Amino acid sequence: MTDLIRVEGLSVFYGASAQAVEDVSFTVAPAAVVALLGANGAGKSSIMKAIAGLVRAEGAVTFDGERIDGLPARERVRRGIVYVPEGREIVGDLTVRENLVLGGYNATAQDRRTRLDMVLELFPEIANKANGGAWRLSGGEQQMLAIGRGLMAAPRLLLLDEPSLGLAPLLVRRVFDRLASIRGERELAILLVEQNLRMTMRLANEIHFLRGGRLIGHKRADELKDEAARQEAVDAYLGVAAAE
Ligand SMILES: Nc1ncnc2c1ncn2[C@@H]1O[C@H](COP(=O)(O)OP(=O)(O)OP(=O)(O)O)[C@@H](O)[C@H]1O
Ligand SMILES: [Mg+2]
Repeated sequence: MTDLIRVEGLSVFYGASAQAVEDVSFTVAPAAVVALLGANGAGKSSIMKAIAGLVRAEGAVTFDGERIDGLPARERVRRGIVYVPEGREIVGDLTVRENLVLGGYNATAQDRRTRLDMVLELFPEIANKANGGAWRLSGGEQQMLAIGRGLMAAPRLLLLDEPSLGLAPLLVRRVFDRLASIRGERELAILLVEQNLRMTMRLANEIHFLRGGRLIGHKRADELKDEAARQEAVDAYLGVAAAE
């Protein structure tokens, strides 16, 4: 019972025939970072959405020792499961600060203030622009805002869907370093979806490889320390999929 989340036999269907995820099982320990790696269409976002309660799925999802797969999305958020979607979905018409406040809608005013200060301290790039329209932010700053908004809900499990999408490598590194630091400070577990192994290695303790909706391999980060091992994993698990 030491897992924060346990996913067992998860399948996701869209419509009657299209199966996006097939019999996927994995766990995330408290404060761990687990990554799902796979090419476009492998089923990564579908797994995240199923855990967040945003798509219909089969299988068992146990969070903190309790089954949650029957619960509505908002109840899962209340329990500490927060999804940061790919493509960010910030509200451009609102200010940066208003976007962040939205993320903490179920907190007390006091907690909201504390968390807002924490997020603005974590991402000074957006702190400078807190009172301006969110539509003015650059792509990288929007990503910081999206993650910051997720943190406003005080998650215990953050579901991060391709946070590196469209970001320069230097910026990805910065965002990942910030995430590593908050994860050290609080009891925060992260399920991270990525396509790039090298970037993922900066943050993840374990990596699951996904192809065609199925898990096809698993590595601990310490097994991928040297370049040859990383290349071997890319060839075995990602290379073929990427070439397809
Ligand atoms: N709403 C939907 N309706 C029908 N099919 C869908 C829907 N969303 C996803 N799919 C299909 O399910 C499969 C998995 O999609 P998913 O978005 O989970 O992949 P992904 O690994 O997140 O890909 P990407 O890296 O491009 O974001 C794909 O074949 C996709 O076309
Ligand atoms: Mg996706």
